[in-house]
Amino acid sequence: MAYSNTIVRNMLLSFLLILSSLASFANAKTHYHGFIVQETKVKRLCKTHNSITVNGQYPGPTLEVNNGDSIVIKVVNKGRYNITIHWHGVRQIRTAWADGPEFITQCPIRPGRSYTYRFTISGQEGTLWWHAHSSWLRATVYGGIIIRPKQGDTFPFPKPNRDSLLLLGEWWDANPIDVIRQATRSGGAPNISDAYTINGQPGDLYNCSSKDTIKVPISSGETSLIRVVNAALNQQLFFKIANHKFTVVGADASYVKPFTTDVLMLGPGQTTDVLIKADQPPARYYIAARAYASAQGAPFDNTTTTAILNYKNAPTSKPIMPTLPAFNDTATATAFTTSFRSPGKTLVPTQIDENLFITAGLGLQKCPPKARARNCQGPINGTRFTASMNNVSFVLPSNFSLLQAHHHKIPGVFTTDFPAKPPVTFDYTGNVSQSLWQPIRGTRVYKLKYGAKVQVVIQGTNIFTAENHPIHLHGYDFYVVAEGFGNFNPKTDTAKFNLVDPPLRNTVSLPVKGWAVIRFVADNPGTWIMHCHLDVHIGWGLAMVFVVDNGVGQLETLEQPPKDLPVC
Ligand code: C2O
Repeated sequence: MAYSNTIVRNMLLSFLLILSSLASFANAKTHYHGFIVQETKVKRLCKTHNSITVNGQYPGPTLEVNNGDSIVIKVVNKGRYNITIHWHGVRQIRTAWADGPEFITQCPIRPGRSYTYRFTISGQEGTLWWHAHSSWLRATVYGGIIIRPKQGDTFPFPKPNRDSLLLLGEWWDANPIDVIRQATRSGGAPNISDAYTINGQPGDLYNCSSKDTIKVPISSGETSLIRVVNAALNQQLFFKIANHKFTVVGADASYVKPFTTDVLMLGPGQTTDVLIKADQPPARYYIAARAYASAQGAPFDNTTTTAILNYKNAPTSKPIMPTLPAFNDTATATAFTTSFRSPGKTLVPTQIDENLFITAGLGLQKCPPKARARNCQGPINGTRFTASMNNVSFVLPSNFSLLQAHHHKIPGVFTTDFPAKPPVTFDYTGNVSQSLWQPIRGTRVYKLKYGAKVQVVIQGTNIFTAENHPIHLHGYDFYVVAEGFGNFNPKTDTAKFNLVDPPLRNTVSLPVKGWAVIRFVADNPGTWIMHCHLDVHIGWGLAMVFVVDNGVGQLETLEQPPKDLPVC
């Protein structure tokens, strides 16, 4: 009797399981969107600009989905520049064709043409964002991606009363494309920006901006989920709200073990989800962001962007301003970035198949003897700025995307000799001899077998100047198992690895004059760029590409290219 009861119960249970998985499958939605890339009049800092936007919105439309949903977005380019759109942090499992970086997974969408991106969000919850991945267009072409739990699932924390998205951006009082073109001609550093923004608005501390300052409503006693995205082009930012503490609950669309802090630091590309409790007297409190600038002596935009946390029934007095850390407060930045843990024990790989050591930093290219002085405006006479990983300054192809070249076996587009370690060993964070400042140029990739367990030690260099670099890997989330200052020492630093609950990220903040160690399993076939998310550094070549082979069977194989994939 007891025996048959168990059978009946098991049958019932598996029946319920099937039902519920069917239900969740039925609940997964497909979202259809049209993105029209167009020139739009945008008024900021007292001037009107013709800016490239999506659907005339700056920032662009927010995508709101549930984990498991699919997204179909037709991008129509009615602007005057080539463009692509990248869905930053979306894993794009088997759909590398939809990832978006120009000349890596697709050729650009030319003016007058279109391309439809199709992909599914799977196993990611929290906040991501999308942005143009072509030249400096992302200065105005970006928006948020909010991924809520599957229908019927809940957050791993009490449901917040409100949910707000705050996109931190960077504004030039000029056409950003002209700014980067001018710098590329001169070989010098591009002009610094004129403002930072919160949801596209600089805020009260800038000219002609205060009447449009963003207001974030809250009522006493409420808890609000605030999703912070650093969408700035070239600047790490500190972020604070006067008199309020944050409980950090997520980053890069993965949950984290909650911790409290009163300041955030995000590198471009990173997202941080926080809860705040409205436990202060009803008033108006500034939400503020400004630079964390770690490169010694380098000019940076030293302004502060603000929005206002607006309590219901607050008196209309002057908002209270938080005290932000000093621009060079590396100690505060480090205290924040090293507070992250996954919520529990993770599946971080412990046996490693591929162990890479990759240096990352700037360089200076000597100009050829006959070059014009106006094209050699680097910081030392007769040089141009450059940047590299393992001494290779990455050059984008131009006839085919790397993914096409890989998929259709087109020769001559890339070489597979990206080195697994630097060609010379040196004191990376010491006084680097100028003979080591000049990298070679190339479109070199590193091949990975499907399923390989990969460790990358990313080592910052002090070539010309050291600084913090937000290193972003496409197509993957990776575990950050350790970070530190100085030169990575495998003998002593390996002991410090967190192989229990390291955080899962898509962008790691590489400490200034320091290193970070990441691990991932190469379970997504395609061509995946890993680069510094400061756009000024991508242009100089601070990038490399992993080419991940197909595995066995359909589920481990890249899909066929879409029919409307742009050609070069
Ligand atoms: Cu958000 Cu290749 O970047």
